[in-house]
Parts: sequence; structure tokens; C-alpha cells
Amino acid sequence: MMVTLQVNGQTRTAEVAGWESLLWVLRERLGLLGAKDACLQGECGACSVILDGHLVCSCLMMAADADGSRVTTVEGLAEPTDLHPVQRSFVEEGAVQCGYCTPGLVVATAHLLEEHPDASPDQVREWLAGNLCRCTGYGAVRRAVAAAQLAHVADHPDGEGTS
Ligand code: FES
Ligand code: FES
Repeated sequence: MMVTLQVNGQTRTAEVAGWESLLWVLRERLGLLGAKDACLQGECGACSVILDGHLVCSCLMMAADADGSRVTTVEGLAEPTDLHPVQRSFVEEGAVQCGYCTPGLVVATAHLLEEHPDASPDQVREWLAGNLCRCTGYGAVRRAVAAAQLAHVADHPDGEGTS
């Protein structure tokens, strides 16, 4: 079937088979390699994208079921000439090692800032519980998220873009 998606603000169409996941279509049909194919079982969060305002594991979503949806991948976060603030905080805090988990963590953190910018450390831990990292031990990730929260508040002093 033909599937139409709004991906990172652009209309994209693809002919997909019934077995194809959203992750597969993003990577193999649309050439967006940011979302990673790791466990393919909904366990690691490496494939996280924002679908119609919800953080989802794109490996668990059938592409056909996503027809007509808005999808934001990690490629859609950065400005043309600059990193997204979350990407910058991950770099500055050294929260990137092999990088396999990073796109999913960045997407999940960017969504956290939209939904709950003033989340407590415990809430941050709960929010990111589905994003596994084998390398960093999470300390640097927690520092990066905290830095991104501070930057977000500084950029939105009137609460605009915050819940
Ligand atoms: S690849 Fe989707 S959750 Fe691991
Ligand atoms: S940086 Fe390697 S899995 Fe997270």
C-alpha cells in the first residue's frame, strides 16, 4: 500500500509492504538513518521517534498504521546550521560514546522538554527508562538532560513552549 507521512515537516510517500515497520520505512525507504535498529523488540528505545505528539518505538509501529501521521526523527530536531540544544548538551556533557543510543535519547529528551520541562530528576529517570545505553553509565546522560532543561528554561523565560 501507499503510505503518506509528514516527516520532519515534509510530505513523504512510500510504497510499503504489510510487514514493514515505521522504523524500516524511515531507514530503508526514506533514507533517514538517525533512528537506530537495535533490539527491534521495543526494549531499547534506539528507534524512538515522535509520532503525532507521542514518543514511540518506531520498530513496534507498522508503517501502514502510521499512514497520515506526523513523524519527527532526530534529523528533524537540529536547525540547518546549528545543533538542537539537547544535542549540544549531550556533546558538551560527554553523554555520547558509541552513539547507538544517542538519537533515541535525544528525541526522548527533546520531547520531555516540550511536555515536562521542569521534570524532577526522578521524573527524568522514569521518562528515559525505555532508552537503554550500554556505554555511559547514565551519569553523563543525566547531566546532559539537566543542562538541556536549564537551557530550555533560559530560552523560554515566559514558559512559552512549556507545559
Ligand atoms: S530498536 Fe526499537 S526499541 Fe530497540
Ligand atoms: S553511547 Fe553507546 S549505547 Fe549509549
